[in-house]
Amino acid sequence: MKRTEVKDTGKSRDAKSAGIPGPRNGTRTITLIPGDGIGPEVVNAAVEVIEASGAKLEWDRQLAGAAALKRFGTPVPDDLLASLKRTGVALKGPLETRVGEGYRSINVYLRRELDLYANLRPTLSFPGVHTPFRNVDLIVVRENTEDLYSGIEHQVAPGVVESIKVITARASRRIARFAFEYAKRNRRKSVTAVHKANIMKLSDGLFLRCARAVAREYPKISYREQIVDAACMRLVTDPCSFDVLLLENLYGDIVSDLCAGLVGGLGVVPGANYGERGAIFEAVHGTAPDIAGMNLANPIAIILSSAMMLEYVGYPRQAGLIRRGVQSVLKSGRTMTRDLGGKATTSEMTAAIVRAMRNA
Ligand code: NAI
Repeated sequence: MKRTEVKDTGKSRDAKSAGIPGPRNGTRTITLIPGDGIGPEVVNAAVEVIEASGAKLEWDRQLAGAAALKRFGTPVPDDLLASLKRTGVALKGPLETRVGEGYRSINVYLRRELDLYANLRPTLSFPGVHTPFRNVDLIVVRENTEDLYSGIEHQVAPGVVESIKVITARASRRIARFAFEYAKRNRRKSVTAVHKANIMKLSDGLFLRCARAVAREYPKISYREQIVDAACMRLVTDPCSFDVLLLENLYGDIVSDLCAGLVGGLGVVPGANYGERGAIFEAVHGTAPDIAGMNLANPIAIILSSAMMLEYVGYPRQAGLIRRGVQSVLKSGRTMTRDLGGKATTSEMTAAIVRAMRNA
């Protein structure tokens, strides 16, 4: 798999990169990747809701992951990459990655191939979803292209392996700038860089130095730092003391799931991967093999990811309608999927959201 090389053209390009929403040009074709496990069920739910919102989109359906491997003999068919490069925007279901064996993560591959360097996960409490905290409002910004996810692993000798953590000034600066630009545009008050620079003095030290340098350009936004273990403890005891979190790839992966747990779990938290030339929108959760094909998955996470996508392609009104539909269903508490303590199926939850949008 060939890596697309992207030249670092410096500050102005970085600043532009946080310019969410993205391209606006009317009707858009979107690459639709149903994904594996519960993917097709929740992605179909999202398409139904998007169509009910009135947004005019065309879908270019493409297989990836285990589904593509079965059909075409490769988890990343050329047609998929061509479609992503053509449309620049995808709505994607989760893709299976085997633990400790098999092909490398297709998610990691796609993010690197398309240089989708910024992973954004807004984590908000919902009225009607009962959790220990009521007013969680966290934005997790995760660097998406390097760190231990570079996939450089080798056996040094039998019984001894090395995994290389790669941190570069360029990637650290541009993710920090993304976080601060996001904070500025969305009137957020603080950015907290989460790190382990007390142990990884060089790599996390470089990440922090870059974050500090970028922070100096945004004097109105308070900049803080916290060691990742202490940050986890504070997140589960006092999450409302955080605002925007800025993390390297691995810490971001772990901490964003922790944050999802604060507001009702993986079924309700959306996500997006942004780059200079495009974006992939997907839920935080995986393929949920334990409930795949049973019409039990909560479609809200991918539906809210779709709302982020609609904003990106220039349909903010439709995005707002979808969010209000989701909030109204959750608030009423009458239609809840099993992960939220109810008995509703994926289809019942989807139908309830569409009804709520029509009545809005
Ligand atoms: P998972 O997120 O698939 O499941 C963890 C638990 O959460 C399971 O009990 C599952 O039933 C539940 N869950 C997840 N999403 C749900 C939803 N929408 N509604 C209701 N319950 C839900 O994580 P797991 O089991 O660690 O990973 C399974 C597979 O997914 C692996 O192959 C992994 O690599 C892949 N994965 C893919 C991701 C992606 O494509 N972005 C992200 C995370 C994992």
